[in-house]
Amino acid sequence: MTDKPWAGRFTQKTDGRVEAFTSSVDVDSRLYKSDIQGSIAHCRMLARQGIISQDDADAIVKGLGEIEKDIESGRFVFDPALEDVHMNIENALYERIGPAARKLHTARSRNDQVALDTRLYLGDETVSLIRRLVCLRRAIVNFANDHMHVVMPGYTHLQRAQPVLFAHHMMAYYEMFSRDTQRFRECLARINVMPLGSAALAGAPYPLDREYTASLLGFDDISANSMDAVSDRDFAIEFLAAASICMVHFSRLSEELVLWSSSEFGFIELSDSFSTGSSIMPQKKNPDVPELVRGKAGRVIGDLVALLVTMKALPLCYNRDMQEDKPVLFDAVDTLRACIDIYTAMFPNIKVNDTVTRDAALRGFLNATDMADYLVGKGVPFRDAHACVGRAVAFAAKNGRELHELSLEEIQRFAPEADDDLFGLLTPESVIDRRNVAGGTGRERVMEAIEAARRQLSDEEKSDAK
Ligand code: ARG
Repeated sequence: MTDKPWAGRFTQKTDGRVEAFTSSVDVDSRLYKSDIQGSIAHCRMLARQGIISQDDADAIVKGLGEIEKDIESGRFVFDPALEDVHMNIENALYERIGPAARKLHTARSRNDQVALDTRLYLGDETVSLIRRLVCLRRAIVNFANDHMHVVMPGYTHLQRAQPVLFAHHMMAYYEMFSRDTQRFRECLARINVMPLGSAALAGAPYPLDREYTASLLGFDDISANSMDAVSDRDFAIEFLAAASICMVHFSRLSEELVLWSSSEFGFIELSDSFSTGSSIMPQKKNPDVPELVRGKAGRVIGDLVALLVTMKALPLCYNRDMQEDKPVLFDAVDTLRACIDIYTAMFPNIKVNDTVTRDAALRGFLNATDMADYLVGKGVPFRDAHACVGRAVAFAAKNGRELHELSLEEIQRFAPEADDDLFGLLTPESVIDRRNVAGGTGRERVMEAIEAARRQLSDEEKSDAK
């Protein structure tokens, strides 16, 4: 084992228990690619500014490239005693190229290095999550389009309210995931700021060209204040907030799929390949995928809360507490990625029982508002129409019938203005199509929404490919 880079002022060896407790390499080794990429850019800048020689820089860049290959092929052994990914790689570089390796850390601290690595890592992951969200949204649009004929009850208070198109209900989730995509795009603006050059906290007494390092790494901007740059984890908190909101959307969708696949609803059936069984009850077919996604929402929200609480009241600048940012960040990235991917795959495996959903839309007086609106059309003030229909509903309910199952004579007892033309308006399809308002559930409007979504997705795919 080699001495720790900071061993100079110490007269005792680190207690093994402290080593084990403080080490983070089992978690942060995931940052190796960003760490090497960041070190290469830093080293090129140092040479360009004449701070280290070109020969040393070439040796460092070459050595780092070889280390990256070793890590990728699984040959590299991370040593927990070397604390973190940064010191593991620096130590390996020394073993590989000798004294030149000791110049790499000029004008740099692990405080700005870890901020850089985390930003590089999170930027890449965010771009990848955005692409996956675009695929998920496409799956939702296709699913909605394939079920344009399906009518179902829409709910408020989980009570049947008014009939809607199943596609309209699904497109509501399209909107939520579109906002999520937007939020992640906006996160990128704050992630893409280059902190290197802030060193431990105060900047570095060398003629650094921070803009050059930033341009090598594809950053849009450099940080404006060295103390802020090494203390700031807002970008990670924002990411976790966006991830949490997205998981809340997933959990609401999951809850609906779980309800709908129950015998009580019977609206949908998940294919066998997307369901699981019970080890004791032979008849069971369980919706474990949506249930787990619903459960994982709690985890990601926990990740957000954990980092907020870690950062709350930390004095400037770097504090070791901040090492706790990575487990939660990585967990949220992994969890969200898995949920997006499994849902994208699951949509084509959902069978919708269109007769069950339509039958449900036929029972429960979902057309009562439309009967009142009809009477308004016959000159009855809305409040009076509401009261007449209410009485008709009470009568029908007492007789175990729906409004559209009453005779015209029966209806006229409550609403003398009603005529034969009323019945055509009371079918779920007519109730739906009459909501031909922008954003409404009318078939024309939902078709428009699907087409608009497809145009939006194509535009996003084109600009993301650039
Ligand atoms: N492993 C540390 C982290 O993840 C890196 C920075 C450590 N800096 C320090 N001076 N101990 O936060």
